[in-house]
Amino acid sequence: MNNCVVGLQWGDEGKGKVVDILAAESDIVVRYGGGANAGHTVVVGDTKFALHLLPSGSIRKEAACVIANGVVVDPEVLLGEIESLAKQNISLNDRLFISENAHVVLDYHKTEDRLREEALGKNKIGTTIRGIGPCYADKTGRSYAVRVADFRNLERLKAKIEKIVAYKNKLFSALYEAPPIDADEIFEKCKIYAEKLAGYITDTTAYLHEAIDSGKSLLFEGAQGALLDLDHGTFPFVTSSNASSLGMSAGCGVPAQKVDRFIGVVKAYSTRVGAGPFPSELDNEIGQTIRDRGHEYGTTTGRPRRCGWFDAMAVKYTSKIGGINEIAMMHIDTLAGFDEVKICGKYTIDGREIKMFPSDGDELAKVQCHFETLKGWGEVSPEVSEFEQLPKEAQQYIKRVEQLVGLPVMIIGVGPKRSQTIFRK
Ligand code: GDP
Ligand code: IMO
Ligand code: MG
Repeated sequence: MNNCVVGLQWGDEGKGKVVDILAAESDIVVRYGGGANAGHTVVVGDTKFALHLLPSGSIRKEAACVIANGVVVDPEVLLGEIESLAKQNISLNDRLFISENAHVVLDYHKTEDRLREEALGKNKIGTTIRGIGPCYADKTGRSYAVRVADFRNLERLKAKIEKIVAYKNKLFSALYEAPPIDADEIFEKCKIYAEKLAGYITDTTAYLHEAIDSGKSLLFEGAQGALLDLDHGTFPFVTSSNASSLGMSAGCGVPAQKVDRFIGVVKAYSTRVGAGPFPSELDNEIGQTIRDRGHEYGTTTGRPRRCGWFDAMAVKYTSKIGGINEIAMMHIDTLAGFDEVKICGKYTIDGREIKMFPSDGDELAKVQCHFETLKGWGEVSPEVSEFEQLPKEAQQYIKRVEQLVGLPVMIIGVGPKRSQTIFRK
């Protein structure tokens, strides 16, 4: 059985937790997109892991982990994660495979990300400043790109970095009056990365197809959320990759037909970090209560996440474009304690009903959410293991989401821990 787990909102839906759970029954876990902008949390007992580049299956010592071609790899972050897990007795040796075709995020990408955001001022995107946009731009631009395979040929890499740094320095100086960056410094770091990563670099596409042919079970781990998809999200307030499940095939060289089940992860409400339209946002006390109860602060940047009611119009859209088979709904416990809760089930613009979520930012900014009000529920015990043990009102809430989105909710989160999860049959 091959599964793909993707976020259906604006990221941080709880993908890390779902992937960690499903990894127990998977041979290989594959990250296929995004980079260190991702922050995936896995809580096992009292230990909390926050992973940015390593697949969330890393915590399962039996699982092989792949960082495929679609990922933009920041070697500094990756090596830090490998070391940090090693200190906790979790070794990646002989089970981590990094694509030679993946692109490399270097210091100048992060500098470029920061300079551009600063220059944009109040019009900034609110990126994570992890160099994601500049690295993907260099990838599509081709001439100034560094791939993981370049770590195998240091002489060629040195020349490449000199060329790139000369170009970037002209750009940074002309556009931002920024001080020059030093090519030697970057190359010296690359020599260390090359040495430390050498044992992990391979042709991951060949590796994955061999695994499929021999009947292994694969788990594809999406990063970000479909509403941040470069083509189908709320452009320009998106990330620079195809963060919906549509990015999976291109990001790892495995066609979608090989995936048996696309699992879309949502929260029982909505959150968003960074700028951009958010129709069901609660910029008020209710939003603050959700933020406090759900500890809604970014895993990567620590920024407070914007909170809002569940938006069924948005999730119906991202489920459709992503070929989603079933939903995993996290944080049903966080939404406890309200007398009433709301779901956005309909959009209108100037009184006219909009059937499909408009991904165009200008259109989206105009929509009016029509909310349905449902009865709230009291505390959800973290011990609950069956759907029927949830408060009746929470069950009704989930059933209403199923009707509006048109998909079954098969996994339900009642707390951050691995064990605090309900599986419906
Ligand atoms: P990801 O980026 O999709 O992997 O999600 P993040 O890790 O960035 O954010 C999800 C947060 O919610 C993390 O702090 C998780 O530990 C936490 N979490 C996941 N599922 C649940 C749940 O069902 N209930 C509660 N209370 N927390 C959860
Ligand atoms: P995970 O995998 C939430 C958001 C940023 C910003 C926009 C562009 O943890 O769900 P970028 O640095 O990618 O150029 O920023 O995308 N963003 C995320 N928001 N979760 C993420 O990842 C995100 N990755 C990027 O906040 O609005
Ligand atoms: Mg996250």
